[in-house]
Amino acid sequence: MSKEIIDKILISHEDIVNKTNELARRINDDYRNEETPIMVCVLKGAVMFFADLVQHIDIDVAIDFIAISSYGNTTRSSGEVKMVKDLSCCVEGRNIIIVEDIIDSGYTMHYLMNSLNIRGAKSVKLCSLLSKPSRRVVPVEIDYLGFEIPDEFAIGYGLDFDERYRNLKDICVLRLED
Ligand code: PRP
Repeated sequence: MSKEIIDKILISHEDIVNKTNELARRINDDYRNEETPIMVCVLKGAVMFFADLVQHIDIDVAIDFIAISSYGNTTRSSGEVKMVKDLSCCVEGRNIIIVEDIIDSGYTMHYLMNSLNIRGAKSVKLCSLLSKPSRRVVPVEIDYLGFEIPDEFAIGYGLDFDERYRNLKDICVLRLED
């Protein structure tokens, strides 16, 4: 069994807070004169980011939750995704803002954005705290992006390894040693 070492802080909580405020301001500006959007939290990884982000939204919004899981091992996506928990709102004719923690291969977002468009959403935009462009397999347009990060195993602030470390305040790098 390999040993798990929290190697270093990749993004501090303070930097996350500042960036989250900035993204919320942009969303407020962009949607101030639009029909009430539904902000969709993609469980579980986005839960911390989502909770902090929506507190800085000062326009009318609805919130909803969806859970999608990707098949594969703990560090690589296989490209197959499935809906674990669907939205409770009807998305037809609605402005949707998806809130994610990280875009990696892009498979999850590709699937979700397609699914929302097929269901007749009026618009679908994506807000992601993190992106690993070096791992992208499917192109994904990120409308509101926090940080681009290198291809390291990020944990904390919602991101897990084997369902642990989500509670860390900072985003850190996890190193596995034999
Ligand atoms: C993670 C993350 C994204 C997805 C990104 O979710 O929260 O939803 O992977 O990877 P992709 O771009 O390669 O599809 P995960 O399936 O690990 O579930 P979790 O959010 O519950 O941790």
